[in-house]
Order: sequence, then C-alpha cells, then structure tokens
Amino acid sequence: MNGKLENILNEVLKSLGYDYETKVVRSNIEGVDFQCDDAFKLAKIYHKAPFLIAEEVVDKLKENFNGYFKEVSVSKPGFINIVVSDSFINKSLIELMTKEKLGASIEDKTIVLDYGGPNVAKPLHVGHLRTAIIGQAINNILKFKGNKTISDIHLGDIGAQMGQVIYGIIHDFPNKKYEDIEIDLDYLNKTYPKISGLCKENEDVKKECAKITKKLQEGDLNYRILWKKICDISITDIKKIFDYLDVHFDYWYGESDAYKYFGELMEYFDTKKCVRMDNGAKVIDVKEDTDKIDIPPCIIQKSDGAYLYATSDLGTIWQRKKDFNPDEIIYITDARQSMHFTQVFRASKKTNIYNGKLTFCGYGTVNGKDNKPFKTRSGGAAKLEDLINEVKEEFINLRPENKNMDNEDLDKIVNAILKFADLQNDLTRNYIFDIKKFSEVNGKTGPYILYTYLRINKLLSLDGGSLSENIYNEVDRTLRLKLLEVSSVIDETAKERRPHIIANYLYDLSVIANNFYQCNHVVGLEGQIKTDYNIILKYNNLVIKTLLELLGIHIPKTM
Ligand code: ARG
Repeated sequence: MNGKLENILNEVLKSLGYDYETKVVRSNIEGVDFQCDDAFKLAKIYHKAPFLIAEEVVDKLKENFNGYFKEVSVSKPGFINIVVSDSFINKSLIELMTKEKLGASIEDKTIVLDYGGPNVAKPLHVGHLRTAIIGQAINNILKFKGNKTISDIHLGDIGAQMGQVIYGIIHDFPNKKYEDIEIDLDYLNKTYPKISGLCKENEDVKKECAKITKKLQEGDLNYRILWKKICDISITDIKKIFDYLDVHFDYWYGESDAYKYFGELMEYFDTKKCVRMDNGAKVIDVKEDTDKIDIPPCIIQKSDGAYLYATSDLGTIWQRKKDFNPDEIIYITDARQSMHFTQVFRASKKTNIYNGKLTFCGYGTVNGKDNKPFKTRSGGAAKLEDLINEVKEEFINLRPENKNMDNEDLDKIVNAILKFADLQNDLTRNYIFDIKKFSEVNGKTGPYILYTYLRINKLLSLDGGSLSENIYNEVDRTLRLKLLEVSSVIDETAKERRPHIIANYLYDLSVIANNFYQCNHVVGLEGQIKTDYNIILKYNNLVIKTLLELLGIHIPKTM
C-alpha cells in the first residue's frame, strides 16, 4: 500500500513540476491512515512555503485520484494526511493476497550464509541457538525473495580443542593402535573439559596439546585417524540438535577445509606483495585513516608457522569465491567477533581476493534473569540440549492437558517458544531468557501467535464468495490496513537482515486479529458480512503462516 501511495504522490509531484521521490508512512494520528511529510524538504529545494506545496498536492490528489481516498487534507504547517477509501483498501488487499510472495519484491543474488559454526568436540551451548535460528531465518527470508542462498555451517573443527581431546585419548588408551580405539559422545563430553582444565593448571600439558594441534593442522596422518573419529561422533550429535531446530546446511564444511587452499593463498599474497613480516609473523595491515579505534594488523601466520582463525577465514573466502562466486557472504556470529571480521573483511578487500559484499551480523548474548550469561537449572554454562529440555518440561507442566500432547506438536511448540523468544529482539541486543514468560500462551510469545492462528483457523469456513467493497468498523479497517503492510515488512526484514521486524509485525498483527475476533462476533453472522470476514481471516492466517515459516516456526495441529 505504501508503495502504491508513493507512486501516486510521485506522479502528482511530477505533474506539478517537482522532481522528487517521496515517502509515505503509516500515521499515528487518530483517524488518519497515512501521512507524507515531504513538503518540508520540497520547500527547501524549491523555496516555497511547505503549506502551499502540500495544498497543491492535495488539490491534485482530489482532482485526479478521487476514488482512492476518503479524505486528503493538509495540517499546519504542511503535513499531508491521507485517509484511503474502503474500495482502495479492498482492491489492494485482493491484489496482494493473490500475488506470489505476498507482494515482496523479487531478488536474484547468490548469497552465502555462514551460521551455526559450532566447535567440534565441545557441546553446543546457548549461543549456538542464536546463530542457528537467526541464520536459518535470514536464509529462509532471502530464499523466499528469490535469491539463491548457500548455507555453510563452517565447523570449528581444527582448533585448540582438537589437540586437547587427542591428548586425552592418547593418555587414556596408551597401548592401543589409533585405528582400534573406540570412543563415544559421553567420552568426548567428559574429555574436553577435563583436558582443557588440565591445560590451565599445567603448562607442559598445554604445550603438548598445542604441539598436537599444530601437527594436526599440518596434516599428520596418525592424528588425523583420531581426529576423524572425534569429528564423526561430534557432528552426528550436532546434526541431531540442529535437525530438531529445523536448521539445515547445504555444506558441512569446516575450518579444516580451508587448509587445502592455504598453499595457493599464501603464494598469491607473496606474489602480490600483500603481506608484511612482523617479528617473524606474516601480517596484513588493515588500519585506515578514518578509524576511531585501533585496528591491529591481521595476522595470518605465526612465527612458528602456525595458521590462525583469520587465515582460515581468508582461505574460506578464497574457496567460496572459487566454488560459488557469490554476490555476498553473510556471517552470523557472536558480536564479540566483530574485530576479527573487521580485520578479515578488510584484508580480503585489500588483497583483492574477493570483491563482493561481506556482511557481519553480530548477535548479543542470551542472559538469565540475573542479567548474566544464561545458565540452566543444573548450573554451569548452559548446554543447548539442556535448555531445549527445560523449555519442553516447562510447557508440559503449564496445563494438565499438555501432558497428553502428541510429540510432534510438542516439538513444534518448543521450537516456537525458543525461536520467537529470540527472534523478537533486534539481533544485536542481549536479551534475558525467561523460560516461564516465553512459554506462556499470553504475551509476546511463540505460543500466543500459534494460538491466534489455530483459534482463527477453527472459525474459517470453506465457503467461497468474494470480498465486497465494504469495511464494517474501525477494528476491521485496522486489520485490513495491517495486512497490507506485509510486503514491506518482508522487504525491510530482508534488506536489514533483521528477523525481528517480521517477529514484531507478527505479534502486532496477532493482537489486532484477536481484537477483531473478539469485537466482531464472527460466529453468528450471515450473508455478505460473513463472507467478507471469512476472507479477511483467511488472509490473516495466510500471512501468519507464511511469516512463521520464514522464522522457522511450524504450526501444530492443536495446542
Ligand atoms: N566456530 C566459531 C566459534 O564458535 C564460529 C565460526 C563463525 N564463522 C566463521 N566463518 N568464522 O566462535
């Protein structure tokens, strides 16, 4: 609707001799649907009083576009207030709801999304919930708009923890051939914390583990045997949890896959003279004159020859460019990695290994009610699996009938609780995870949206008929206007890479739809009004369902 109004206004402006792309926004003023405040900007450009310009525009609107408006007026000192006609609302609504993609604009970029990023051999924690569900939502939305998306989990599969676990295995099975050693998930879950603890106490162990890691990175075939066993067990477990969350990847590459490209990459850097030696280490300077904070050089190889996190990210960019030639790569990781990505992005641009767009979506932390990083009831850093189980338990205990719920529905609701809790916040912000609050059916929660959908779905009849020109009351009008926002909500979410825009719209829409349902006694009605309300509620549920799916939330059969 905004878009249509803008087109009309632009046409009017042009006919009046103003060359300007105007903006129309929803108005907060009671009884006004939309407003345009650009007369002030035009006044500056054309040296004319804003009120006069606004008046000219309004006169033209009345003259040439009468059918579209119930009322257009100017309020001092130059705001244009618009009340659209019922028939314009209804025509636009029918058009929008039958359009593909709910009227969202179509894009056709190739975009790599880097999310998930768990570290092999360590259990998934609450932070991984954020990268996984934010990443998947952005992926769904960009794909919905027609882009070709490529998701890559980018496992942390060759870092310090691998040397530590291998060290543990070697000491636990001293007399066994590596091929014959058998370990399982339980073993991994115990061994990583045990050895990483030991490294903190004992400098020799720490050195030994670092040595193993380095050899592993250099391709030591013996260590690779154990490494492969660790990866297989851990990745199976990671898959299980991400499957539960309906989070999927086209590629399960890891940092280790970038190592294959280090040879070419280093040669390229050397021939192009991109690197500088600094105390035996190879670095790329990435400081810029306009920096307000110090951006240290990007270290790509330590003096002992070891590679670093930045090297693996540059190697991965090199690989992605080669394999997919994307227009853009989007990284969804903890905001605390912001400096790392600033360095990597700059190094990549400066060395010309990739000239597409590089986007960092850094998310905030999940805190407990005490505003400290979230812990589960059992204490300790929250394992993602424990959090999922706690949410499930909380929901089951909420009402007696929840105990008999079928498992598939229950899992959908647990997903809705977790995802809506997270995605309603601007991803850059920290938020407090309050299991009880987020599981409630009332309030700004996943269950509330699901419940709204299911309740309305029960009212819908299969009767056909078409929408009349009528709008029956203010609540009805509010719902129709809200539905008309959907295309711009999707476009805005995609443009900003901010799923909370959709989540907040879904909540607002649900509040309005519930109000509509309560104020208009839909059940007892007959005739055209029944048909009209049935169609509007169908539209409402189409929008809710489509947007929930984009957020990775699926609707249960009942709840
Ligand atoms: N494994 C990293 C971590 O847990 C996240 C990886 C993010 N992606 C990347 N390309 N660096 O911190």
